[in-house]
Amino acid sequence: MAKKSTRIIAVANEKGGVGKTVTVINLGAAFSLMGKKVLIVDVDPQANATKGLGIEADEDQLNTYDLVIRPDETMAKDAVLKTSWKGLYVIPSHVDLSGAEVELVDEDGRENRLKETLAPIKADYDVILLDTPPSLSLLTVNVFTCAREVIVPCQTHPYAYGALGELFDTIEAVKEAINSDLTVTGVLATLYDQRTRVSQRILDKLKNDEKYSSLLLETVIRANTKIADSADVGKPVVFYRTTSFGAKDYKALAKELSA
Ligand SMILES: Nc1ncnc2c1ncn2[C@@H]1O[C@H](COP(=O)(O)OP(=O)(O)O)[C@@H](O)[C@H]1O
Ligand SMILES: [Mg+2]
Repeated sequence: MAKKSTRIIAVANEKGGVGKTVTVINLGAAFSLMGKKVLIVDVDPQANATKGLGIEADEDQLNTYDLVIRPDETMAKDAVLKTSWKGLYVIPSHVDLSGAEVELVDEDGRENRLKETLAPIKADYDVILLDTPPSLSLLTVNVFTCAREVIVPCQTHPYAYGALGELFDTIEAVKEAINSDLTVTGVLATLYDQRTRVSQRILDKLKNDEKYSSLLLETVIRANTKIADSADVGKPVVFYRTTSFGAKDYKALAKELSA
């Protein structure tokens, strides 16, 4: 039976602290609950997605750094780890990845490394989610080269809103030069707190923005302390606090994106 094609989704925003990693972990978890086989690829040297999935990657474990620096010697399938949850897998990151940028600077095809190395295992999964560092670096360009879709978490905060322009310019540039298949699937409002005027104001702004309104996802991720608690203990909130707002919102997001 022919396998339907794999969705490859990057979660990106050059700002830190906007909910990228939490979105990767919990959207991945929510997709796995829907019976999908999910691979999370941690492309941030901070390795927060790895830790958030309860994985303490030791030095001998192959990780994203090996994949982009030594693609000839490293098989992506050997870097994949099972998490404690059915259908949810991860390629961990490592702090070494922060050096990859410099090491790759003179290499030909440096933006293609991740795409090439993941190609042999792509079809094994229904969804591949890529977490990115808070910068528009070569690592992020590698992710955009490999992905088909981008989800842009936007914290409902004025600074976060203002920073979207540069990200969209980068996505446009990658689209033109390297990967014409890349599309923005949606802007995701995150850390929404309905009690604060600023949250409401930014959400309204997104809803009425000429450029972003049509991309704004219907699901809004509310600020919910259970999300941070779960990340702390290395468990997706979707599994750890199943009835929390955080779990509900991310399950709703997975449903919206599957429709
Ligand atoms: N919806 C949310 N409610 C409460 N805390 C959140 C939420 N989303 C993210 N956080 C917390 O905010 C911080 C930044 O989130 P994170 O996903 O790591 O952002 P990024 O990957 O964009 O840097 C983390 O401590 C995380 O636990
Ligand atoms: Mg992060």
